[in-house]
Amino acid sequence: MEIINNKLYMFWKLLLLAMAATIHVYAHAQTNDSCFFIFGDSSSDNGNNNALFTLAKYNYPPYGVDFPSGATGRATNGRTVPDFISELLGFNVYIPPYASARGQDILKGVNYASGAAGILPETGKQMGADISMDAQIANHVTTIVGTITAKLGSVEATKKYLKNCLHYVNIGSNDYINNYFMPQYYLSSHIYNLTQFTDLLISKFSRQLRELHLAGGRKFGLVNLGFIGCTPNARSTNNGECVQEIKTAASMFNERLKVLVDQLNSDFSNDSSVFTIVNSTAIFTLNSGFAGFKVQNASCCKTVSSTGLCVKNGTPCENRNEYIFWDGFHTTEAANAIFALSAYNASNPNYTYPFNMSRLLSS
Ligand SMILES: *[C@@H]1O[C@H](CO)[C@@H](O)[C@H](O)[C@H]1NC(C)=O
Ligand SMILES: *[C@@H]1O[C@H](CO)[C@@H](O)[C@H](O)[C@H]1NC(C)=O
Ligand SMILES: *[C@@H]1O[C@H](CO)[C@@H](O)[C@H](O)[C@H]1NC(C)=O
Ligand SMILES: *[C@@H]1O[C@H](CO)[C@@H](O)[C@H](O)[C@H]1NC(C)=O
Ligand SMILES: *[C@@H]1O[C@H](CO)[C@@H](O)[C@H](O)[C@H]1NC(C)=O
Ligand SMILES: *[C@@H]1O[C@H](CO)[C@@H](O)[C@H](O)[C@H]1NC(C)=O
Repeated sequence: MEIINNKLYMFWKLLLLAMAATIHVYAHAQTNDSCFFIFGDSSSDNGNNNALFTLAKYNYPPYGVDFPSGATGRATNGRTVPDFISELLGFNVYIPPYASARGQDILKGVNYASGAAGILPETGKQMGADISMDAQIANHVTTIVGTITAKLGSVEATKKYLKNCLHYVNIGSNDYINNYFMPQYYLSSHIYNLTQFTDLLISKFSRQLRELHLAGGRKFGLVNLGFIGCTPNARSTNNGECVQEIKTAASMFNERLKVLVDQLNSDFSNDSSVFTIVNSTAIFTLNSGFAGFKVQNASCCKTVSSTGLCVKNGTPCENRNEYIFWDGFHTTEAANAIFALSAYNASNPNYTYPFNMSRLLSS
């Protein structure tokens, strides 16, 4: 990835950061009946893996160095993308992890995301336990049936409530990096070529999204695969360069995802369901997105080479706002702020397809 030093783009980036810092001031007034359910992997996890037996944990310093309550299980230095989206939605608290969500706050939403998780149940298991997409959906159904319906008093009220909730899903990266491209642990690449494996993922993902729809979801923001071939971890295997094979996999997945989203929007048009893609590739490559960052190819914290995660209690870089990557895989708070704002409030059609997330919520 080329380093772009254009002052205008730096200006854009700083402006976005400043906007992100004051997001709550501009947030929509629709807030009181907003609700937000989060599904995915480590990029969204905020503590679900803390009590699991796994290497995929982020609940020790320097994780959380810029987060008010420190290391919570977020795989970054500060806020995650869902944290920023919560601010944009006008919540004054972050959405709690399923592992510890209790009480009235559950009506605002629950975060089911789990580090190392994938669309396929076996993905990521070489690191230990995780909560796969299937298990996250099962947890969501438990929340709906066990808690939300009880609080709201009827199935009808629950249906009406769920229609207004944003369902944010960011999953699929691990099915490649912690499954297909780990032939020493997984059979998938011995059985399937990349096209076949991608088709398998998309058909499984299609069933999962239809299950969430069946459970009452109507508004979906789906994050596609962005930079998995260009993370510091990927580069460390290829003399500092991006790994073309992984980039190819991501773009193959993204092409199929676009077709799937068109299909879902058409299949469910009668109940005004809306599915939109947040285009990570575009946000990662375009100048008003990540291309303005000074350091694109290195992590801010010192990492353990076998896991790509930060060395425990290591001292991170000082200039964290200049880095895209916090550790070997995960983006910094500064990058997350830009990502969330690009997803939520994009006017550039490259960033969201077929429309931005603020439109998704007002429809
Ligand atoms: C994968 O295999 C299928 C069926 O044999 C074939 O049509 C397709 O071109 C192959 N794809 C790749 C990327 O090799
Ligand atoms: C990142 O890119 C810069 C400039 O091209 C180079 O000097 C540096 O060695 C690279 N760092 C890593 C970790 O590859
Ligand atoms: C995502 O962005 C890339 C690069 O700008 C573009 O080629 C691709 O068509 C976009 N995908 C969607 C679904 O809009
Ligand atoms: C979203 O964009 C509109 C138009 O550019 C702007 O007026 C508004 O302040 C933005 N909202 C946020 C939360 O940045
Ligand atoms: C988001 O999309 C809506 C509908 O397409 C559009 O009116 C709005 O201007 C977009 N946001 C920005 C900041 O452009
Ligand atoms: C959208 O992406 C394409 C291809 O990446 C690029 O040529 C075009 O300028 C982008 N459009 C905008 C409005 O940034």
